[in-house]
Amino acid sequence: MPCYDSVWNTAPTSAPAQRKGRYTPGSAAHPAKMHPGIAAHAVATYTKPGDLVLDPMCGIGTTLVEALHLGRNALGIEYEPKWSSLASRNASLAEEAEGKATGAVHRGDARRLTEFIPATLHGEANLVLTSPPYGPSVHGQVRSTRDTGERGVVKKNFRYGHDQDNLAHVSTTHLLEAFTEILAQCRTMLRPGGTVVVTTRPWRERGELIDLPSAVLAAGKAAGLTPSERCVALLAGVRDGRLISRPSFFQMKNVRDARRQGIPLSVIQHEDVLVFTRLPSDINARASVARFRS
Ligand SMILES: C[S@@+](CC[C@H](N)C(=O)[O-])C[C@H]1O[C@@H](n2cnc3c(N)ncnc32)[C@H](O)[C@@H]1O
Repeated sequence: MPCYDSVWNTAPTSAPAQRKGRYTPGSAAHPAKMHPGIAAHAVATYTKPGDLVLDPMCGIGTTLVEALHLGRNALGIEYEPKWSSLASRNASLAEEAEGKATGAVHRGDARRLTEFIPATLHGEANLVLTSPPYGPSVHGQVRSTRDTGERGVVKKNFRYGHDQDNLAHVSTTHLLEAFTEILAQCRTMLRPGGTVVVTTRPWRERGELIDLPSAVLAAGKAAGLTPSERCVALLAGVRDGRLISRPSFFQMKNVRDARRQGIPLSVIQHEDVLVFTRLPSDINARASVARFRS
């Protein structure tokens, strides 16, 4: 039975614990994976078994894996070959484990996805679930000197490749233009009445909050989607009515440094979840996308 609360209790256990045994070795190296609990919650809430779930920027394929385990079919697009191969392997593993649903991954630029996804699938997706690349300060993992034998603390897996078509490298303005285009393409892939869920987080540059969630809300509207909800997906656990936070080393360091300078920052322990609908009356997305572009 899906839960319809606006606060999603998505991290009763840590992300690595949730991934254990369900993802191939090497998956941990991706710098900005979605928490599996968030993907599972969105899929369970907005689709039913047999539906089609699409992720246009699928990374290692978290959306696909969690959708397949819930008996939904899944389609992913990823620009970087390294991650698209991993997503494909992860989807195959989930397909074998579940047995009923099918998954497929295409390597390509999501800004042009309707050009390479077969036309028979256009207008067939029930849910688009995705997360744009954002802020290098929220990416990556940390190794202590005990793990590496090096001096100090080492940050690893916090960069993508260097290709400029990977939207992780572009300015926030360019990212939002590109993401609007991707959402417009996704609208063509959705059934009328279908749902788009985008998880995102603000980040900070030199102490200033960059409010990416609000900008993504505007991008969805510009792509012709109708905003329907704004939810919170917890990255912290809940025990005995209290939050059990799991901050990264750099999150803690940044907050401590800011507080020492008198800036009252908090550790971010949730993702913002923006939910949009392709209205049932929106029967000609492609014509509207063309109008949006002109
Ligand atoms: C925030 S990550 C998504 C992570 C994913 N949800 C997961 O759990 O692995 C964003 C992904 O978008 C990919 N990406 C960047 N530019 C792209 C583009 N133009 N087309 C398709 N994918 C792109 C990046 O390589 C990255 O893997």
